Formats: sequence, structure tokens, C-alpha cells
Amino acid sequence: MAGSTSRPLSGRVSVVTGATSGIGLEVARGLAARGSTTVLIGRGEDRTKGVAQELARSTQNPDVFSIGVSDLALISETERVAEALVKGYPKVHILVNNAGGIFRRRDVTAEGHERTFALNVLSPFLLTSRLVPTLVESAPARVVFLSSAAHSRQKVDFDHLDLPGELYGSGWTAYSVSKLEDLLLGREFARRLTGSGVTVNAVHPGFVHSGFGLNNGGGMAFGIRFFGALFGRSVVRGADTPLFVATDPSVAAITGQYFDRRQVRSGSAESRDPTAATRLYDACRQITGAPEIPEPPSPTNVDA
Ligand SMILES: NC(=O)c1ccc[n+]([C@@H]2O[C@H](COP(=O)([O-])OP(=O)(O)OC[C@H]3O[C@@H](n4cnc5c(N)ncnc54)[C@H](OP(=O)(O)O)[C@@H]3O)[C@@H](O)[C@H]2O)c1
Repeated sequence: MAGSTSRPLSGRVSVVTGATSGIGLEVARGLAARGSTTVLIGRGEDRTKGVAQELARSTQNPDVFSIGVSDLALISETERVAEALVKGYPKVHILVNNAGGIFRRRDVTAEGHERTFALNVLSPFLLTSRLVPTLVESAPARVVFLSSAAHSRQKVDFDHLDLPGELYGSGWTAYSVSKLEDLLLGREFARRLTGSGVTVNAVHPGFVHSGFGLNNGGGMAFGIRFFGALFGRSVVRGADTPLFVATDPSVAAITGQYFDRRQVRSGSAESRDPTAATRLYDACRQITGAPEIPEPPSPTNVDA
């Protein structure tokens, strides 16, 4: 009994993207400490393996594994990770879509997609889509998208998902829109997976003093580091709400919601727009070629 209390996720399999640093590392640590078989997706084969070994040691859980990637902003790399997961892990009970970033200068990947949208939106969309059959097979299962309170003043411009030219702004606009899109996708996956035993939610981890934004150098990195040191919460505290939503029994049945500080919040009006959610889902599917999750039967279509 003591074992099941201290290792409540024993026998469960978790996957965390961006697990080599920041919030993702602490989420992975928390999952491994709870006894879950934990698969870290991180940049660099050797580096991710090293982090997995360190987590296995520090949590005394030998079942911590790694999949190294070059760049999750590439659809081809996300496909490769998905394939490795589907082949290597017949069951996945927890998927935390954590990897993400902000980019001061607009950049386009070798596959032709704006980098913020590709990394923060297309990649978690595709990985989740590819893992849906495994998640359903493993149910009860949970998916968590790392969104942000930064989503709140944004709208999705469906004619310009790649935010060309001035629409990109300083990088913050593209980032904030991508976090709105994460929230919308979370709600759409949740709707499509109604009744499957798979819950899908989005979280705001708080303003966290992590490596976030430091890739940009210059004034943006300085500002984020400065304000992060003054006002940011630690990465351990930043991991608290994602871990809570991924594991706590009290929220096992909650789906399609947005959490901040362990509480369900409404999110912006735009984030609750079901038409935008479906439209974004369709657009991401068209871009990535992900398989469709069929619409759930509407109550009027169910035979009496
Ligand atoms: N920090 C905040 O205040 C805050 C607030 C709201 C939401 N969030 C969200 O929380 C999530 C984690 O952010 P964080 O604060 O922990 O930031 P972070 O310290 O910069 O960590 C980001 C993680 O994503 C990985 N990553 C970045 N670009 C990647 C790429 N192209 N391919 C594969 N992996 C990549 C990083 O890998 P490396 O270890 O190789 O760098 C790292 O593990 C993000 O989705 C972010 O939007 C953060």
C-alpha cells in the first residue's frame, strides 16, 4: 500500500516534450518521482539521454527514457518522434506538450513554416494527433498543453497563420497568438475525444524564471532575465499546475479547460470560440497531414 501511495503512477507511461530544461524538466522529474515510466523528448540525443539518466538516479526510478530530436519545429522531426513513441510504447497515459519558445526575429523553418507557429502549435498538434489511438487504447489518459495567460488579448488571423511581415511584431504577438492557438486546440481535441476516457486541458504555468526567451539574446533576453529574477516563480513552482492537471485524481474527469494556479479559469472569449477551434484544427491537419479524429456523435444522432 505504501508503494502505491508514494508511487501513484507506477505502471503508467508519460511523455514530456522539452524535458531537458525549464518547466518541462521539472514536470518530467515530478512524473518520474511518482513512479511513471517517463519518456523525455529533448534536443540532442546524448544530452537528453544524460538528463534521463540523472532523473532516473535522483528519483530512484530506473524507467526514465529519452528520445533525442534536432528541432521539433520541423514536422518531419515531430513525425519521427511520434513514430518512435508509437513503436516503442503501446501505452501512453500522460502527454505533456511543453516544448515551446519565443523568437524576436521572424524565421521560417526549412519546411517553410514560421518558427513560432511550427514549434508551439503544429508540433504539439501533430504529436497529439499521432498519439490519439495509443492514448485512447490506454485510457484513462490525459494530455496537457502548455498555454499562457499571454493568450488573452489575441485573435487568430486565419488568413495569416504564418504571421508575415508586420503582423509578426516583436515576437510577443506571434508567441501570444500561438498560446491562444494551443488553448483552442486543447479544447478541440477535448471535444473530439469526448467519452473516450482521454482528457485534454491547457495550463498557464505562471511567469516562470526559466530559460524562456534567453535564446534571443540582447534586450529581450535581458528584460526577461531581469523581470524573471525579480518577479518570476521557480521552475519547480512553474511545474506545479501542469503536474497537477496531468496527475491529480481530483481533476481526472475535467476536460477542455484552461487552468491557472490549479484552478479552472475561463480564458479569453476568443479561446472559447468553438468555430475558431475547429477551424484551427482543420488548418493544422491540412498543413501537417495528421489523421482526423472523427467528430463525436452529436446527441441528436445517437439512436434511442
Ligand atoms: N516561462 C514562462 O513564464 C512561461 C509562461 C507561460 C507559458 N510558458 C510555456 O511553458 C513551456 C516551457 O517553457 P519554459 O519556461 O520552461 O522555457 P524554456 O526554459 O525555454 O524551456 C523550453 C523547452 O522547450 C525546448 N525547446 C525549445 N525549442 C525547441 C525546439 N526547436 N525543438 C525541441 N525542443 C525545443 C527547450 O529545449 P532546450 O533544453 O534544448 O533549450 C526546453 O526544454 C513553453 O511552452 C512556454 O511557452 C512559459
